Amino acid sequence: MELWVATGNAGKLTEIKNLLHSRVTEKGWVVRSQRDLAVFTPRPENGKTFLENAQIKTRAVAAVQRGVWVIGEDSGLEVEGLGGLPGLHSARYAGPKASDPENVAKLLKMMALKPMASRRARFVCTLVAISPEGTESHFTGELQGEIAKAQKGGGGFGYDPVFLPLIDGAVSTQTLAELGSGAKNRISHRAAALRAFLASIEGSAP
Ligand code: IMP
Repeated sequence: MELWVATGNAGKLTEIKNLLHSRVTEKGWVVRSQRDLAVFTPRPENGKTFLENAQIKTRAVAAVQRGVWVIGEDSGLEVEGLGGLPGLHSARYAGPKASDPENVAKLLKMMALKPMASRRARFVCTLVAISPEGTESHFTGELQGEIAKAQKGGGGFGYDPVFLPLIDGAVSTQTLAELGSGAKNRISHRAAALRAFLASIEGSAP
């Protein structure tokens, strides 16, 4: 089976490829992404929800790669004490072209301005899949946790250095960036949404 991933984000693509690794080695799946296209202009992500943005990304790739599976997702971080921000704006929190470190710095600054605010947070992911026949389906995943007071760890991407995930009901003392890709892929919002998609096409429970 040929599966295209509608993302230009290298961190997300690495995670998704790791999660699909056994399908590639054991079942011969071919996994490609929009980064493999010689010419591809991403559409503006101007949806009002994670689902709308995931549809924009996935449909853009499905329009140029027909007869194959296409998946795409939109994800973000919602912080309780910031009223759900950065939310849909997670990739652009510190500005339209903000880097991951700039977004993390802004988040820590906003939390420092509200010392009494709840640090509880969650990552959310909505994944859209379009079948070779053009049928669209949706899957979601989330990861609960807390925002750390300072960043730690060199792994992952985005807000991983400040996110302390809830693991087996307890807040981890290590950030996602410290825990590493193996641990993150067992618990992450993206992994949960992707597993739900895989279960739906492979015919078993997630
Ligand atoms: P988008 O889905 O491409 O609009 O971007 C989502 C943004 O949310 C990323 O650029 C990150 O800032 C953040 N994000 C989503 N998932 C993760 C994650 O697994 N770790 C850290 N940050 C994430």
